[in-house]
Amino acid sequence: MSQPRFVQLDVTDEASVTSAAKLVEAEFGVLDILVNNAGIARGDGAGKPSETTLATLREVYETNVFGVVAVTNAMLPLLLRSPAARIVNVSSEVGSIASMTDPDGPMAGMASIPYPSSKSALNMVTAMYAKELRDTPVKVNAANPGYCATDLNGNSGFRTAEQGAEVSVHLATLPADGPSGVLWGHLWTTAGPESCGVLPW
Ligand SMILES: NC(=O)c1ccc[n+]([C@@H]2O[C@H](COP(=O)([O-])OP(=O)(O)OC[C@H]3O[C@@H](n4cnc5c(N)ncnc54)[C@H](OP(=O)(O)O)[C@@H]3O)[C@@H](O)[C@H]2O)c1
Repeated sequence: MSQPRFVQLDVTDEASVTSAAKLVEAEFGVLDILVNNAGIARGDGAGKPSETTLATLREVYETNVFGVVAVTNAMLPLLLRSPAARIVNVSSEVGSIASMTDPDGPMAGMASIPYPSSKSALNMVTAMYAKELRDTPVKVNAANPGYCATDLNGNSGFRTAEQGAEVSVHLATLPADGPSGVLWGHLWTTAGPESCGVLPW
């Protein structure tokens, strides 16, 4: 089994993205799995939409949306050389417009623009790559890890990082007849992998 290799990558830095792709090409010549996991959450004031600054919005989109497109486009030629490549975009249930606007849903009380809307944009990005690549072996899906205790939320989540990662692993190892172009995971629950499924966009 080959050893893990560290590749330095800042998804907001074009030169860094290009050199990461060149390194993978030079050392391996192919890429089987791309997990676009990098993400940030920022807010202004109490986090209300009316308090949102464009600077914060731009900062979050640079990583959560533009970074994913930059890395995916740089890596796609290598992914297309794989017999069964998988792209996993780590999204969130708070990017699901259907779930966020459900007045009886668990996220009924949340109202914020930067992070949730960046994940909604990422969901569309996912759906569009899946559409473009539907006649290739590449599957492109969005993962919802659920609310996990990590640095992103000051460790307030009620799931572990390991539980959140299970969703990405599932999508990264889908069989040939698995789905492409879906948002997959749990909706605001502590349940295990058995309760995972397709979530509404
Ligand atoms: N935690 C949750 O409840 C939750 C729920 C739903 C979705 N998610 C998503 O899960 C993913 C992982 O988040 P997390 O909870 O594990 O948060 P985290 O502990 O804050 O980790 C975020 C990761 O993103 C990396 N990152 C940030 N900006 C980057 C950039 N410009 N270039 C490269 N890497 C960058 C960070 O690297 P450095 O440490 O080097 O900065 C870090 O490894 C994110 O996409 C997040 O939106 C999290």
